[in-house]
Amino acid sequence: MSVAQHLKIKLSEYDRRIRTFIPNYEEMLDAAASVLHLLAERQPTIVDLGIGTGGLSARCLRVKPQARVCGCDSDNAILAMAKRRLAKVSQREHEFVFGDFLDAALPKCDAVVASLALHHITTRARKQELYARCFAALRPGGVLVNADCCPAQHAKLAQQHQLNWQTHLEQYYTAKQTQGFFAAWAAEDTYFPLLHELEMMRAAGFKVEVPWRRAPMAVVVGIKTR
Ligand SMILES: C[S@@+](CC[C@H](N)C(=O)[O-])C[C@H]1O[C@@H](n2cnc3c(N)ncnc32)[C@H](O)[C@@H]1O
Repeated sequence: MSVAQHLKIKLSEYDRRIRTFIPNYEEMLDAAASVLHLLAERQPTIVDLGIGTGGLSARCLRVKPQARVCGCDSDNAILAMAKRRLAKVSQREHEFVFGDFLDAALPKCDAVVASLALHHITTRARKQELYARCFAALRPGGVLVNADCCPAQHAKLAQQHQLNWQTHLEQYYTAKQTQGFFAAWAAEDTYFPLLHELEMMRAAGFKVEVPWRRAPMAVVVGIKTR
């Protein structure tokens, strides 16, 4: 399913509408990109899984202007938007791979980043497998950065955080429209609790950190220690 179908929007509206769907979207992406300050490499290779329109990669290029991005996405139309966006902010040649990040070969790299994309993985086994592939692709000192919805494990806390998210949407949409969005996303997206995310990254070999959290969203980082 294309991004436009999934979010029920026109693709050209993506950058405006995603802010209405995701609370603190820009702050979360800035926090995810700033993790790249951990890299000693001046010209790192950054793999962006589910690059979308390139919002996260563009921010990564602000932190590491000499970086080379390899963006993967299963929606060709949005991939073309990412290509145009990165061409405006960077002189370097970047790579754009049309395909499923669950199958695509991951190049040797210094960072694997993803925002609001890995919730398209429906089982813990597949996500665990991807994290193991990321670990293998990363050079020592490299980082895996995932910005996404990671609910609390405790049902009451998770409910309270869901209410925060609902309140955000209701600034832009009616209560009925908001419920419609949540119902559609629930049918397609899988949000693993933050604690499960940490377990999966640790099991893949990473040392983990959570540099940013505004529940239910979080930036979760796996560091491949040297
Ligand atoms: C909600 S968008 C997020 C885009 C961007 N990272 C951002 O933060 O704005 C999710 C993106 O992941 C892509 N995607 C979802 N599942 C994918 C998969 N299995 N392989 C590659 N891309 C995928 C979608 O096509 C879409 O562009």
